[in-house]
Amino acid sequence: MNDIEQIIDEASKKISSSNITELEIIKIKYLGKNSILTHILKSIYRYSTEDRKKIGSQANKAKVFIENEIKKRKESLEKFVINEKLKNEKLDCSQSLYFPFTKGSFHPVIKTVEDMTSVFRSLGFFTAEGCEIENDWYNFEALNIPKGHPARDFQDTFYIENTDNLLLRTHTSPSQIHIMEKQKPPVKVIVPGRVYRNENSDASHSSTFHQIEGLAVDKGVTFKDLKYILTEFVNIFFGSNLKIRFRPSHFQFTEPSAEIDIQCFSCCGNGCRLCKNSGFIEILGCGMVHPNVFKAVNYDYEKYTGYAFGIGVERIAMLKYGIDDIRLLYENDLRFLRQFL
Ligand code: PHE
Repeated sequence: MNDIEQIIDEASKKISSSNITELEIIKIKYLGKNSILTHILKSIYRYSTEDRKKIGSQANKAKVFIENEIKKRKESLEKFVINEKLKNEKLDCSQSLYFPFTKGSFHPVIKTVEDMTSVFRSLGFFTAEGCEIENDWYNFEALNIPKGHPARDFQDTFYIENTDNLLLRTHTSPSQIHIMEKQKPPVKVIVPGRVYRNENSDASHSSTFHQIEGLAVDKGVTFKDLKYILTEFVNIFFGSNLKIRFRPSHFQFTEPSAEIDIQCFSCCGNGCRLCKNSGFIEILGCGMVHPNVFKAVNYDYEKYTGYAFGIGVERIAMLKYGIDDIRLLYENDLRFLRQFL
C-alpha cells in the first residue's frame, strides 16, 4: 500500500514539472506494460483475498489518478503553447480574404446616380437634396393632388405609424416644392433620392427605389426646352443611335405631361423579354409645371413657366448594365456586385 502511495506522489511531482515530450515518457513509465502499477496488478494473485481487494482497488485508482493528471497537464501545456503562438501573431482584420486583393467600389445604383447627375451638371443643373419623410402637403396637396383624388391610388403610400400626415415620399417631386419655397426663379436643379411605394416586389418593381427629379423655371421656358434637355441627356448617357419616343401622359402636377421611352438596346427595337416585346422602354415622366403648383409656392404663374421630370434610376441602371431583374440590385450578393468593380 505504501508503495502505491509513493508511486502516486512521485508521479504527481514529475507530471507537474514536465513538458509535452517528458509527459509521454512519464505515461509509459507509470501506466505502460512494464510499469510498477501494471506489475502489481499482474502479481496480485500472490496476496490474500482480503489484500487482493484492497491492493487491486488502490492500484486501479492510482492508474486512473495518474491518467487524469497526465491529461490535465497535457491540456494546460497545449493551451500555453497556443497562447504563446498567438502572442507572436498579428491579426489584421482589414485584410481581404480574397487574393488578389480587390478594391471596393460604388454600388451600381449609386454609380448610376453619379453618372446621371454629372450629365445634368454638364447641362447647367445644380444638385440639391430632399428628405425621405414628407407630409401630405409636400407629397400630394401642393403637387395638385388633393385628398380623395384618384391619382393618390397610383402611389400606394407608407404612412408613418399613428399618423395620417407623415409618410415616406412616394416620389422625388415634393422636392420641387421645397426648392421653390426657398428660391425665386430662375431655378435649374436636379434632386436625386430614394422613394418608397407600398407595392410587392417583382422583376421590375421594388418597394424602395431611386429617382432623379429635375426642375427648371424661368421666364419663357417652353416644352421645346424640356424636349431638348431630355434628348441631350439620353444621347449623352446612352449614345445618340437609340431612338427616343415622347408619349402623351398624365401627371397632376404637370400640364401637358409626357413619358419618354427609349429604344430597347437589348433587342434594338425588335422586341424582347426586357421591353415586353414593345421595342421601347419607359424611363421617365415629365411635363410643364402646372399653374396650381406655382400657386402653392407663391410663384407668379403668369410671369414664369417651367418644366419638371422624374427619372427612375434603377431602370436606367438596368438598361445600362443589361440587368433584367431589379431585385438583383438589392440582394447584395457579392458575386453580382463584384461585376461592377
Ligand atoms: N413624380 C412622377 C412619378 O413618380 C414623375 C414626374 C416627375 C412626372 C416630374 C412629371 C414631372 O411617376
